[in-house]
Amino acid sequence: MVLSLICPTKDPIPWVAAIQAIAPDIELRVWPDDGAKDDITFALVWAQPQGIFAQYPHVQVIASMGAGVDNLLQDTSIPEQAAVVRMVDPRLVSQMGDYVLAAVFNHGRQFPRYGHQQRQRQWQPLPPTHLGQITVGVMGLGQIGQSVAQRLVQAGFQVVGWSRRAKSMAQVQVFAGQPQLPDFLSASEILVCLLPLTAETENILNAETLTQLPLGAYVINVARGQHLVEADLLALLDSNHLAGACLDVMRQEPLPQEHPFWSHPKILITPHIASLTDPVSVAPQIVENYRRYTAGRPLLNQVDRRQGY
Ligand code: GLV
Repeated sequence: MVLSLICPTKDPIPWVAAIQAIAPDIELRVWPDDGAKDDITFALVWAQPQGIFAQYPHVQVIASMGAGVDNLLQDTSIPEQAAVVRMVDPRLVSQMGDYVLAAVFNHGRQFPRYGHQQRQRQWQPLPPTHLGQITVGVMGLGQIGQSVAQRLVQAGFQVVGWSRRAKSMAQVQVFAGQPQLPDFLSASEILVCLLPLTAETENILNAETLTQLPLGAYVINVARGQHLVEADLLALLDSNHLAGACLDVMRQEPLPQEHPFWSHPKILITPHIASLTDPVSVAPQIVENYRRYTAGRPLLNQVDRRQGY
C-alpha cells in the first residue's frame, strides 16, 4: 500500500510535506524514483507521461492534483478497475471567484482603455458604465461555476448561467443544454467559461457561438485553452464584434513566443494562475480518500470516467 506522486511539471516537495504532516503512516514515493511499481496502489498525479499507468499493475485510485481531469482521462493506460478522483478545494474555488471578479471589474471599469490613454498622456473621461446593468454569463455550473455566479450576483451584476442539465439557482437565470445555448449567449455581455473539457465542450467557443454574443461583448476563459478556437476569437476581435478577452488558459502552454495573443491590444493574458490547488488545503481530502480506499469505503469527489468530469 504505497502512494506515488507522479507530477513531472510540479514540485512534489510541498505535496509530500503536506501529506506527511497529517498522515506520517502513509508511505509516499515520488516518480520516477518510486521503486517497485507493483507496490503502488494510489497515485497522485498531474501532467503524467501518457501511458505511464501500464507500469503500475496494482494502482486502484488515481487522484488528480487539480480540479480538472481532462488531461488525465485522455490516458488510455488507466486500468479499467481504477477509480479517478479530483480535488475539490474551497481555496481554489474562492481564488477563481477573485480572478473572475477582477477581470470583470477591470473590463467593466474600462481600465485597459484608461491604461492606453495614460500611455498617450490623454486625460479623457469615457462614458460611465453602470455595472448593475451588465449581464455576466457563466458557462459551466459545477462547484466552481456556481460559486463564481453567486459572487457575481453579490457584486451587483445581472447573472445568467448555462449548464448541460437544468439547475435552479437563486438570482441566476439558468439556461440548459444545446437548445438554450443561443438565448444564453445573446444575454451574456461578459462571458465566463468555466466548463470542464470534454469531447462535447472542446471548441465550444467558436465563430458561431461567439457571434451570438452581443456586439461589444467580452470573453473570459479560465477553463481550458481547448474550449476556444483561437483564430475565431482573433477574427471577432479584429472585426470589433468583441471588445476584448481575458485568457488564463491556452491551447498550448506556455503560450509560444510567436503567438499573436501576446501583442494583441484587446487581449489580456495570465499564465494559468486563476486558481491553483494548495497542497496544504487539499492534503486532508487526499488522506481521507486513501483511508476510504484502504477501508473499502466510497471515495470522495470521484469522477465519472464516461462523462469526463
Ligand atoms: C487547474 O487548471 C485545475 O484543473 O486545477
